[in-house]
Amino acid sequence: MNTPSINKAKIRNKEIVNKINYEIDDKYLNIGKNKTYYIKTYGCQMNERDSENICAMLESIGYSRIDKYEDADFIILNTCAIRENVHNKVFGMLGRIKHLKETKEDVIVGVCGCMSQEEIVVNKIKDKYKWINFVFGTHNLHKLPEIIFNSINNNRQEIDVWSKEGDIVEGIPIHRENKYKAWVNIIYGCDKFCTYCIVPFTRGKERSRDKEDIINEVKELVKEGYKEVTLLGQNVNAYGKDKYDNYNMSNLLNDISKTNIERIKFVTSHPWDFTDDMILEIKNNKNILPYIHLPVQSGSNKILKLMGRRYTKETYLELFNKLKDNIPNCSITTDIIVGFPGETEEDFNETLDLVNECKFDSAYTFIYSPRSGTASSRLIDDISIEEKENRLYKLNEIVNKYAREKMDKTVGNIYKVLVESESNKNGMLMGYTETGKLVNLKGDISLIGKIIDVKIIESRTWSLYGEHIQ
Ligand code: 5AD
Ligand code: SF4
Repeated sequence: MNTPSINKAKIRNKEIVNKINYEIDDKYLNIGKNKTYYIKTYGCQMNERDSENICAMLESIGYSRIDKYEDADFIILNTCAIRENVHNKVFGMLGRIKHLKETKEDVIVGVCGCMSQEEIVVNKIKDKYKWINFVFGTHNLHKLPEIIFNSINNNRQEIDVWSKEGDIVEGIPIHRENKYKAWVNIIYGCDKFCTYCIVPFTRGKERSRDKEDIINEVKELVKEGYKEVTLLGQNVNAYGKDKYDNYNMSNLLNDISKTNIERIKFVTSHPWDFTDDMILEIKNNKNILPYIHLPVQSGSNKILKLMGRRYTKETYLELFNKLKDNIPNCSITTDIIVGFPGETEEDFNETLDLVNECKFDSAYTFIYSPRSGTASSRLIDDISIEEKENRLYKLNEIVNKYAREKMDKTVGNIYKVLVESESNKNGMLMGYTETGKLVNLKGDISLIGKIIDVKIIESRTWSLYGEHIQ
C-alpha cells in the first residue's frame, strides 16, 4: 500500500525527470471483457484530459462505456481537490454508489485524481469507505490496468498513491471526447505554491514534456482533421524552464503555429511569467487565438501578497494593458477569489475597482476554501460565510454586467466560428468564436467541423445567435 504524504509532496529537488513509454502486460488485456464502465470527472481541463486516457486504457482491456452508473460493472471517479464543495460532491456521489454496492456487490469502484493525493481523503477512505476497491493518484495514472488487476486478484482495498511525481509517460492510449478540438498537455505540475492552492501538492513539481513530442502530437492532430488545440498546464508560461536553456513558451507557440493547426489556445497563464515574446507570438501568428485566461485572484496588493501571487495590482494592469494594446480584439478572462483570510471591505472594493477597470470578457469567481496542508490554511479564516456570499454576489453582478456588454457589442459583426455539433436549441448548430463565445446558428449538419463566417444577430448573457454568411 502506498499512501500520500503532504510533506513529501512539498519537496522540490533537482532530480532529472525521465521519459518512459507506456506499456501494457498481456495478462491485463481481458480484465474488462464483456463488462461496462462508468466514469465521472470533476474539476479542470487537466482532469478531463486525464479521463480521456483513463477511458482509452479501460477500453483497451475490454470495458465499454455506459452513461448510467447504476448499470455499470466498474465505476471510476476522477476527482478534484481545489475547493471543499467539490469534495462534498464526490463524497455525495460515493454515498449513492455505496447504496448500489449493497445490492450489487461485485461492482468495482475506484477513486483517482487530485483528491486521492490528499492525506486526509485517503485516511477517510481507509477508515470509513472500506468498500471502495481501489485508489490511485495523479502520478501513476498509467498503472491503471495493473491496479485494477491487483485489486481484483488480491481481493482487498488497493491503495497506490505516489506522493512524489514520477516520470513523464508518453504513449498512453487516448480516447478524445471531441473530434475537432483537442487538449494537449505541455507541462505537468506547479512550483508557484500560491498560499491557498492545493495543486502543487496534488500534481507535483513542474515537468515539461519534450518539445518534439508536443509538436508531433499536434502534427498528428492536424492529419486527423482537428481544427483546434488547447495547450494545457497549471502554469503554461513556465514551459521549458525545467528542461531547456534556450527554449520557452514563446518558442513553443511559434513552433506549434507552424504546424498550421487552425486554432491554438493555452491555459492557464500565471501573470508572473507572461513574457513580451509570448505577446509578440500571439500578435504575429493568426492561428494563435486572441483569447487569454489571466487569473488575477484579487485587486488588493495586501491580499495578493498574502496569496503569494508574486505581482501587484499595478504590474497586473500593466500586463493587461500591454495585451490589449498589442493584440487586436483580444479577449481576457480571469479567476477571482473572495473572502481570503484578512480581506477587509476595503480590499474587496479594490477587487471591484480592478474589475471595473479591466471589464473582463468573463470571470470565474470563487469563495475562498481553506485546503489542508496549504500555507493559507494556517491563517485565521476570519470572514463569516454570509459576508463571503455577499461579496461573491456583488462581484458576480459586476462581472456579469461586463460579460453581457461584451456579448451585446458583437451584434451585427461577423466572426469565425468553429461549428462543433448540433445545439440543444431545436434544429440549430453550435460552435465557438475565436474568443470562446458560444454561438447558436441555423445551418446544415454538413457545416459541423468547419470554421465558417457567422453574422451575430442576437446576444444573451452566455450565448449568441447568428447566421452563416457565405
Ligand atoms: N479556494 C478558492 N478558490 C481557489 N482556487 C484555487 N484554490 C482555491 C481555494 N483554496 C481558484 C483560483 C484558481 C482556480 C482554478 O481556482 O481562482 O485560479
Ligand atoms: Fe495553484 Fe498558483 Fe499553481 Fe495556479 S499558479 S496551480 S493557483 S499554485
